[in-house]
Amino acid sequence: MRLPTGAELWPIAIFTVIFLILVDLMHRRQRWTTRYPPGPMPWPVLGNLLHIDFQNMPAGFQKLRSRYGDLFSLQLASESVVVLNGLMALREALLKHSEDTADRPPLHFNDQLGFGPRSQGIVLARYGPAWRQQRRFSVSTMRHFGLGKKSLEQWVTEEARCLCAAFADHTGRPFSPNTLLDKAVCNVIASLLYACRFEYDDPHFIRLLGLLKETLKEEAGFLPMFLNVFPMLLRIPGLVGKVFPGKRAFVTMLDKLLTEHKTTWDPTQPPRDLTDAFLAEVEKAKGNPESSFNDENLRTVVGDLFSAGMVTTSTTLSWALLLMILHPDVQRRVQQEIDEVIGQVQCPEMADQARMPYTNAVIHEVQRFADILPLGVPHKTSRDIELQGFLIPKGTTLITNLSSALKDETVWERPLCFHPEHFLDAQGHFVKHEAFMPFSAGRRSCLGEPLARMELFLFFTCLLQRFSISVPDGQLQPSDHGVFGALTTPCPYQLCALPR
Ligand code: HEM
Repeated sequence: MRLPTGAELWPIAIFTVIFLILVDLMHRRQRWTTRYPPGPMPWPVLGNLLHIDFQNMPAGFQKLRSRYGDLFSLQLASESVVVLNGLMALREALLKHSEDTADRPPLHFNDQLGFGPRSQGIVLARYGPAWRQQRRFSVSTMRHFGLGKKSLEQWVTEEARCLCAAFADHTGRPFSPNTLLDKAVCNVIASLLYACRFEYDDPHFIRLLGLLKETLKEEAGFLPMFLNVFPMLLRIPGLVGKVFPGKRAFVTMLDKLLTEHKTTWDPTQPPRDLTDAFLAEVEKAKGNPESSFNDENLRTVVGDLFSAGMVTTSTTLSWALLLMILHPDVQRRVQQEIDEVIGQVQCPEMADQARMPYTNAVIHEVQRFADILPLGVPHKTSRDIELQGFLIPKGTTLITNLSSALKDETVWERPLCFHPEHFLDAQGHFVKHEAFMPFSAGRRSCLGEPLARMELFLFFTCLLQRFSISVPDGQLQPSDHGVFGALTTPCPYQLCALPR
């Protein structure tokens, strides 16, 4: 076949440019309606991709908010995005229009990593029967069944003991707590999924943790977003493996763990854990093509629970310890409450929480101040909706700026400071706040919230019951001004844990 040359190429080039402009205009047409939220002018083809500060999206969005208001729009290539800011807009979208905003936008690169119509997992599942089935299954498994012989609380308490023992091994020497916190929290998920815990020095465990963190890193930044808005690039042979090697290896590792688990599964016995319960559902669903219970989805659900439940909780705990170092007066008051309510001998239990308003307020304030998932997880509209007077068409991606509620100046007395009194009334009783939404709200809100709360309370109180936490002299300057507030993870730090 002869390739076109010279003058013959011009009409093709002109046609291509006209075609791209028409496609671009088609994507922009909704911007021309007067009731669509304002936003920066998009460039042809790329849209606003170059307007986004990928190093610090929350700060970049804050600037756009002050220019365009609580609802502003962005165009990411062909994807229409609206960013929601402020308590009112978030509540209206997530609670009033809960159903119409409960869909998720696709993450195309996952299609080559085990995600598919029958294996959508939970976190990124489209709003529909498969998501509903898996969400219901995970929530009820976590809530109701005692996970074999032990309740989830017993697993967490036992893990808190192991964590304290690991802290004690470092007595007198400064160390970074992050890896130990990751291991403890990961073991809680492992107990839920596999009714087992790993020793902290088990090489398989260390690899699993490493891969988990790598997968999260690989999803962030410009390149994954670019590939997601131009999914045809994902067809380039070998590209996905190059850009997401950690994700590939993580999927392989999950498969291995699940295969091992299946060899010890006895369907005639009560389920030991979530995986056993899932396998029983797979058996029941055989021959039902509509069911989301199948082997591929088991891997996606397990991967979702590991990745959604691990780094979130351990990062919050890391913040909690750092904030206790920066605020020794708060640390002392928590320890005083622990001594009064639990004492030095008994292990903390969830039942103690109701009698510990100060500790409860401190944990809430840690979550508010740390603001670890400032932009939540994107949603998508499944119907045209009206929000704060604007019209948002069906199929628009919504970014929920949770940070804007957690740091809302009209709600919190000292939004940028660590101030546990935000959650206490004049009598020292614990008070809730609508604007406290680190777990988001509505239909897609975090399903692991009860487990996360349990871990935060039990790990935090166990550690402070046994240790006083400080930093080696002069290594960290106490500050009450949210120096780390803009970051989702605290700056790397080392601490000393002295037995009390
Ligand atoms: C401090 C700890 C945690 C925080 C701050 C947190 C926060 C969040 C947030 C903001 C979302 C997105 C909600 C939305 O789309 O509107 C989410 C979703 C989710 N979280 Fe968590 N999470 C935590 C711990 C956990 C744990 C321990 C688990 C499970 C073991 C978990 C499982 C999930 C799942 C499965 C989803 C997706 C829910 C859905 O799409 O229906 N999270 N989480």
